Amino acid sequence: MKHLFPSFLAALGLALGTPAARAQAPGGAAGPAALHARIAQLATAGQAQVVAWRRDLHQHPELGNEETRTAALIAAQLKRLGLEVKTGVARTGVVGILKGGRPGRVVALRADMDGLPLTEATGLPFASTAKSTYLGQPVGVMHACGHDTHVAMLLGAAEVLSKLKADLPGTVKFIFQPAEEGSVPGTVGGAKLMVQEGVLENPKVDAIFGLHIWASAPVGQLQYRPRGQMASSDRFSIKVVGRGAHGAKPWSSIDPVVTAAEIITALQTIVSRQVDLTQDAAVVTVGTVQAGVRYNIIPPDATLSGTIRALSPETQQRIWAAIKRTATGIAAANGATAEVSIEPYVPVTFNDPALTARMLPTLQATAGTQNVVEIKAVMGAEDFACYQEKVPGLFVFLGGMAPGTDPATVADHHTAGFRVDEGALPLGVRTLAALAVDYLAR
Ligand code: NI
Repeated sequence: MKHLFPSFLAALGLALGTPAARAQAPGGAAGPAALHARIAQLATAGQAQVVAWRRDLHQHPELGNEETRTAALIAAQLKRLGLEVKTGVARTGVVGILKGGRPGRVVALRADMDGLPLTEATGLPFASTAKSTYLGQPVGVMHACGHDTHVAMLLGAAEVLSKLKADLPGTVKFIFQPAEEGSVPGTVGGAKLMVQEGVLENPKVDAIFGLHIWASAPVGQLQYRPRGQMASSDRFSIKVVGRGAHGAKPWSSIDPVVTAAEIITALQTIVSRQVDLTQDAAVVTVGTVQAGVRYNIIPPDATLSGTIRALSPETQQRIWAAIKRTATGIAAANGATAEVSIEPYVPVTFNDPALTARMLPTLQATAGTQNVVEIKAVMGAEDFACYQEKVPGLFVFLGGMAPGTDPATVADHHTAGFRVDEGALPLGVRTLAALAVDYLAR
């Protein structure tokens, strides 16, 4: 709460200084500077409600594709605001459409809704005691990645923007997405399914914005990176097929274990020798090695699996090709074969450079220039990337760490002690609303 007032002043002061802010809309409608000021006022007025939603959602987390209570809450609030509401999108997703009083473009704002299979250990008065089953196992359920805050903040932004409806030149689409953390293996869900079901059409979305609360960034800060902000994530597996033999007679075998070992070593040169690391980081990790059942039997085959992370689609393609070439080439040299399969999972969270440059003044006006920080890439993945594959998008991290906290002591995302300082929420609401308003006002 103590962060609200200074940033409110910053929003007013800085908004007045931007070129966009100086331009007044024709016909007596409020210009961007006036809209920024109203966003700040409305966000302050709605702050207690956003915190209340957040606590309610936090206490009642639901696993991916099971977010029925969450969806009902969202749909009820959007209907109350007079939005056109669609439910059951990508199973449990909700989409709200706010048509502004003037014609214009279509901008989408996205929040993810799902919790994680973890038993909460934060000690918060509104901590979750929810239970469910995950892949057949009984589990606790917890909002351990802050998606509760995302839903609450986007509802807050919907509340703010619905009150600015008359002045909005265009349409805002609010996308509440299930299952960001992934669906049951082998099924499509989350952002990918929403896109397949046409969430970016009717009306056609011109640009999309999203944010993620970030446990180790201080409250009040916005973090971004142009181009690849978060990595693509693909799974690969390599089955080396050789010929089994008695361990005492290796010359009768085509040893898949030795071949797999050579492949593992050679895969290390893909990132170190075949990727331009001055441009972007990349990762190839072999996480499993499976072969054989007994110490003196050379098995007929060996299987490796691992993960590939890249920060641009070009690097991603280059790594895919290099893995195939390396595995099959080494296997062939040893008289074995290698069956390589690469399963694309999440693309690069790629912030469109032109859109990022265009919206940077909005971020600065909202958080204060000194609080908008360009960061290094994160090699984790985020399925917001699936929207950015189709339309220009910008994804931003929102600081969620209480002031005075040592980042080294912060409980990370996806752990039972994960916490968010609620002082983060007002800036999130204002950022989402301001991105939409400024994009449409162009
Ligand atoms: Ni998350």
